[in-house]
Formats: sequence, structure tokens, C-alpha cells
Amino acid sequence: MKISELKKAFQDDLETLSAEDLVRKWLGSDGYLKKGFLELKRLEGSSKKEVGEILNSIKEKLESIKQELDNQKILSKLRLPFIDCSFKFGYPALGELHPVTQLEWELADFFSRLGFEVIDGPELESSYNNFDALNIPAHHPARDMQDTFYIANAGQADLLRTHTSSIQARILSSGKVPIKAICFGKVYRNETEDASHQAMFHQFELLWVDTKLGLGHLLTLIEETVKFLFGDGAQLRFVPKYYPYTEPSLGVQVRCFECRGSDCSFCGGSSFLTIAGAGVVHRNVLLQFSYDINSVVGLAFGFGTSRLAANKVGIKKLRSLYEGDVFDFIS
Ligand code: DAH
Repeated sequence: MKISELKKAFQDDLETLSAEDLVRKWLGSDGYLKKGFLELKRLEGSSKKEVGEILNSIKEKLESIKQELDNQKILSKLRLPFIDCSFKFGYPALGELHPVTQLEWELADFFSRLGFEVIDGPELESSYNNFDALNIPAHHPARDMQDTFYIANAGQADLLRTHTSSIQARILSSGKVPIKAICFGKVYRNETEDASHQAMFHQFELLWVDTKLGLGHLLTLIEETVKFLFGDGAQLRFVPKYYPYTEPSLGVQVRCFECRGSDCSFCGGSSFLTIAGAGVVHRNVLLQFSYDINSVVGLAFGFGTSRLAANKVGIKKLRSLYEGDVFDFIS
């Protein structure tokens, strides 16, 4: 092809072909431009210069067209609809407070309106606060009720508390009257773990010490707490129980919220679930801290918050509450 023809062919293609076809036809490995440059090698003198200039201007034009095409390709990729992979599996609520924390906050709010103050205590505790001060001396069979993790060579704090009742000893050691305290925290027992038993779980504890208090105050307080936790329609009953640190002691039971019949794995078919232990603080406990047992009365009650929290958010296996695997909650 003569150079004048080449120039004309390019002009025609520029007007008639799409940018992609133009680039393919002229810039490809066996495109017109390459052939033109091969021809150029055979020319000499002024015609070589003239042809070279024309080929270079065609090349420049084609390269800018190709650049424009590449830019458009990138832009069209960027405009693809945005897919947020983190939402693909329908996580129920990423970033919520832990169900136990939610329950603890609700309880703290409820009891603070009744004048109770939240008191903290350590998980690494002394045998004295966990047992002895609560009328559970060494070798008392009641120590076997709670399989304990002892810490070797640990000095005074020689065990992981088995219940938040250990806080009672700490608070009573102040010798104050009145006391209106609540406490939340982790407790540890050497349990064989399964779907509904954990070696670590959470408890709530309440201690109310004052003059002119009676069992009626405790029963009313528990009734209100049960209504708060399970609604006005909750059916409550008290049963006799034994705890070394209360006398009398009672178990707090509510009608099973899972079953209507007899073969329920939750309550074992008894229709009632024991949700808390309670009682009037034993005189030996008060005497331990030099309280005048003729004028001062202590009321106490405590319960596990783990199972309640799990139940509130529909978690069936207690274990899921602590494993933190969000996939456990995706139905
Ligand atoms: N400490 C008991 C437990 O771990 C619960 C309990 C029972 C707490 C009676 C109390 C109480 O304050 O008075 O099972």
C-alpha cells in the first residue's frame, strides 16, 4: 500500500470502525501500522522522513485511543455493584453486648432503683471468704456441694470462687448497717462440661442487712425480681432448701417456661425450675463479723445468670453462650 493510500485508509477506518476494531486492525501484532514500519525500513532519504512522520502521527493517535479504551474498562469494573460479603450470611447482630452483660445491666438497673449498690469482688478468693466465713468450716460436707478449683501455693487467695456468696463475707467484714448490695461475676466449679454444664458460669448475689427486716421483705423482693425477669404471669413457688449460710433457707422455683407437659428435658418433667437460692443470713455468719444478732437481720439471695441470659436470647446450649461462635446463632 502506498503511503497516500495508508493515510486515506486510516482516515476512513477512524470514521467507520469502532475504537476496539480500529485498535485491533492497526495496532495488533500483524496490524497495518507494523507493516507500515516494516516498509519504512526499505525507504531512504526524504521520503523515509515523510513516511516516518505520518506513521508516527498515526501511531500516536492510535495509542491515545487505546489508552482511552483501557481507562473505560477500569471505570466499568469500578462501577460494578458493591457486594458486602460480611452480610452474606445474615449475622443476627454483630457487635452486641454479651447476653450475660445485657442481663447484668438490666438487673443492676432494676435493683439500683430499689436502693441497691453494685459491689465487685475477686474471682481468686480465700477459702475463708468462700467457705469458712459462710458457716462452711473445713471438712464440712457442704464443701463437697461445690467441686472447687484450688490454687497451689497461692497464699491467702487459694481458690477460684465457687459462688458469688463469697462477696457476702467481704461486704460484712465492713461491719456496716444498713447494707444493700448486689454483685455479679464469674464462678468456677470442677464440673464435667457438657451442653448444659460449664466449669465457669455467671452468678448474681444480693445481700440486704438492716434492723427491722423480716422474711417477708425477702419474699416480696424475690417476687418482684421474678416478675421483672419472667413477666407478671410467671408462677412462683418457694420450697425448703439447705444452705449453710442461711437459716431458714429456701429454693425459688418458677413454672417451666419450656414445657406444657411431662416429658421436658428442661425441668425433667417436674414443671418447675429452681432458679435461685435464698434465706435469712445465718446467725453464725453475722456473729463471724461481730454483728448484734438481736437487732440486725441479713437477707440474701443468689442465682445463676448464664442460663437465664441464654434463655432470654434463645440459646439452647449453654456452651454456645461462652464459645462466641456466631454461626451457632444462625438458623
Ligand atoms: N451460693 C448458692 C449457689 O451457688 C446460691 C445462694 C443460695 C445464694 C442461698 C444465697 C443464698 O445468697 O442465700 O448455689
